[in-house]
Amino acid sequence: MENFEQELKNRRTFAIISHPDAGKTTLTEQLLLHGGVIREAGTVKGRGAKKMASSDWMAIEQQRGISVTSSVLQFDYDGKRINILDTPGHEDFSEDTYRTLMAVDSVVMVVDAAKGIEPQTKKLFEIVSKRGIPVFTFFNKIDRDARSPLDLVDELESILGIQAYPMNWPIGSGQILQGIYDLKEKELIPFKNAADHPEVRAEGMDEIELLEDAGNEFDEEAVATGKLTPVFFGSALANFGVTEFLREYLQYAPMPSPVKTVDDQVIEPDSSQFTGFVFKIQANMDPRHRDRIAFVRIVSGAFERGMDVTLERTGKKLRLANVTQFMAEERENVQGAVPGDIIGVYDTGNFQIGDTIFSGKKEVRFPDLPTFTPEFFNKVIAKDVMKQKSYHKGITQLVQEGTIQLYKSWNSNEYILGAVGQLQFEVFKFRMENEYNVEIQFEPIGSKVARWIDPDQVDEKMASSRNLLVKDRYDRPVFLFENQFALNWFKDKYPDVHLEAKM
Ligand code: G4P
Repeated sequence: MENFEQELKNRRTFAIISHPDAGKTTLTEQLLLHGGVIREAGTVKGRGAKKMASSDWMAIEQQRGISVTSSVLQFDYDGKRINILDTPGHEDFSEDTYRTLMAVDSVVMVVDAAKGIEPQTKKLFEIVSKRGIPVFTFFNKIDRDARSPLDLVDELESILGIQAYPMNWPIGSGQILQGIYDLKEKELIPFKNAADHPEVRAEGMDEIELLEDAGNEFDEEAVATGKLTPVFFGSALANFGVTEFLREYLQYAPMPSPVKTVDDQVIEPDSSQFTGFVFKIQANMDPRHRDRIAFVRIVSGAFERGMDVTLERTGKKLRLANVTQFMAEERENVQGAVPGDIIGVYDTGNFQIGDTIFSGKKEVRFPDLPTFTPEFFNKVIAKDVMKQKSYHKGITQLVQEGTIQLYKSWNSNEYILGAVGQLQFEVFKFRMENEYNVEIQFEPIGSKVARWIDPDQVDEKMASSRNLLVKDRYDRPVFLFENQFALNWFKDKYPDVHLEAKM
């Protein structure tokens, strides 16, 4: 590919993490406006959809094929090509959301400045922080009454444990918002039509002096490893502070990074060998088409349509002919893509989550994607006993695909499904009905604390009304505790038993 090096250097691939309603969709829209992809706010797909009940949403998903949740938005700004990987904007999230975070090079964290760090932001941040990738924080909605910026910044350190470096600082908020002070350029960017409040400005300038005296050093290395987050304030809705944010983000966010293989080789993005991994599989919601789309993050080399690759897990050779790149304006059949880009490969059942593909002869295998400890569990049964065969086939395939996690009760082999969010159950049910023609029924066993136990230490006497002994899909024993309290009680009673939060 011509200019491969340049294309590579210009790529910025990120996801936005936030608690629902913090303004992720609004900020995404503003970014797309900056990129010239849309001309008017309020037009991003899925915006209305996410406000509906998830059953309604499933119907929309069906009508629109995969467009609602699968979007990878791509646009150009200031000489850079930006890929935003959408993490579904639902109340409820799923393992897909988590896995998407394995495919980005940096993350933008949007926080409502009136609310501070909320639970979902914290959960998502914890996943990201394990990867040690850069996190950029945008405190949104300063056009409304916000909490004290000092408190907000303090929460980053006290709740998330990440050091913060303010890039700009709000002077007032809501009705008395004067503007944001750019700490690098040392100038105030006034909020349009702000009524003049000299006392608010004076107070703001005092804070800024304090910051300049006592703040953290800006340390690029600490940003690159996710130890320090550059902090911005603004209003996505008023398009205030967004341009400044985008400019600095593009300066400090990394280009596609090298990735280590299972045998500790480092695959550099500019390698001539094409490699990538599957981080998400999306079924075609149209029941007449059983095909699926495997989302592949390109790690190295140039992708060209029609190229031959090997699927590492099976050794099978595949031709990447039927490939889509997801863009704001869906542009079918890409000709080329580089590391950092996402391609959607039409799949007839070859791929699993975490699969590696590579061109050429040198075998490459990227580490498995992490699995996430489920928090919700449901027993599942087929309504019609005559459909056992399709029922088992459906469960096996959907579990392999990573739609949901499968457990069995220790003695009776009843099926129990586990998920990180309730939405995964609905998707599972919908797909069992639509793709495998099997109606299923859930018996909720509610939210549980799962702990893996050393197989040698399992004793059925340990099971009680407050916990349930099950096995995971590899037959490893797991206790599902009713709650944290039941877990603590168990630990007190069996201090020698070794419990793991992760498989
Ligand atoms: P999400 O994707 O993170 O869930 O949030 P979204 O962007 O949908 O924003 C949630 C609500 O917050 C929306 O209002 C949106 O207009 C509002 N909002 C987002 N950014 C700002 C901001 O900077 N300032 C203010 N004042 N409001 C903001 P809504 O009334 O729920 O939806 P809508 O009817 O406006 O679409």
